[in-house]
Amino acid sequence: MAYDIPPAYDIPSLETVRSTPPLRGALPGARLPYALEHGEGHRFDLGRALVTVIARPEDTGGAFWAAWVLGGRDVATPCISHADPQFLYVTEGRLQLRLAGATRILVPGDSATIPAGSPAALRLLSHRTRFLAVLGGTSTFGLVPALGLATERRMYDLHAADVSAARAGELAARFGIAVHELPDVDAAAAEAITEPAAPPSLATALPAEAQPYVLEAGEGEHLESLDQLNTFLARARHTGGSFFAVHTSGGRSPYIPRHFHRLHTENFLCLQGRILLHAGGQEIALHPGDFLHAPAGTIHSFSFAAHHTQMLGILTTEVFEPFFDWMNRPTDAPVHQEIGDRAFPAEAFGRVQAELDVEVVGPPPGV
Ligand SMILES: [Fe+2]
Repeated sequence: MAYDIPPAYDIPSLETVRSTPPLRGALPGARLPYALEHGEGHRFDLGRALVTVIARPEDTGGAFWAAWVLGGRDVATPCISHADPQFLYVTEGRLQLRLAGATRILVPGDSATIPAGSPAALRLLSHRTRFLAVLGGTSTFGLVPALGLATERRMYDLHAADVSAARAGELAARFGIAVHELPDVDAAAAEAITEPAAPPSLATALPAEAQPYVLEAGEGEHLESLDQLNTFLARARHTGGSFFAVHTSGGRSPYIPRHFHRLHTENFLCLQGRILLHAGGQEIALHPGDFLHAPAGTIHSFSFAAHHTQMLGILTTEVFEPFFDWMNRPTDAPVHQEIGDRAFPAEAFGRVQAELDVEVVGPPPGV
């Protein structure tokens, strides 16, 4: 598979997308709907790390690349910067991130947003550390297949040799990655120095402009909607307009009306609980780690099917971002509140339908 020459991306018509049920368990190679259970995707050994690619530019029409990284203690990357913006979300273990002159330890629920060109170095601190990495754009996605070895494994190889720095450096330039000087830091010492005390308050505002930043679990720009809490972890202004990331938490909730978008693409990742999705005429349950890609044209709806559900939405491009601002109310609450009796914001939804990229095609599934 030639990854170093960007392929021409196959972007089927909206009509084709609308009539194509989601592919299950495999990457489609064209911008069509698909669903992956946790552990499915293209897998590569990179030393003692297993990288499971769940979205390539050819699956997303060149919009983004996404992969799970699972690795062992002390797996580390050099200090590198990408030509594409990057978003990281930790689900297991502890990840040390050296970013913008500071060292932070990320634990499950923490995230980092790294604009294009910002140097960052990663070190996995736990024996089993897992995080999602999303890269907007197409420049650097080829590095993993070029540097790694394709594998059928679903767990990293404890005895694998580290990736040679020379080989990594040689390939980096080919994929728009710059390697930066960074003094070696003893992981334990860095952790002792920088493990934060309880923060005085949670950050609820995101940076005004693109810059590297880290959010602890529960931080972010909170917007409440009926019984759910939507939290912006990254807005389009932080990713050069390529995507934004929204964490949604809530209890059981019914399906929303079936609809599609002409430009906007939604990517649903279940973090906790269970999400029921209706996409392309199929109902698909997402459990933690499961992923569904609903490109523009896909008729879809979702519901939360478990009392404690958390979802990460990676949404491309920026066109639909105002939906969350118009349909929700700002709040400082870091968790969803079970208010229950609030009326649906019909007026706001009228504005959404008039001004944003959404077409409702029917009632919620089953209604
Ligand atoms: Fe949608």
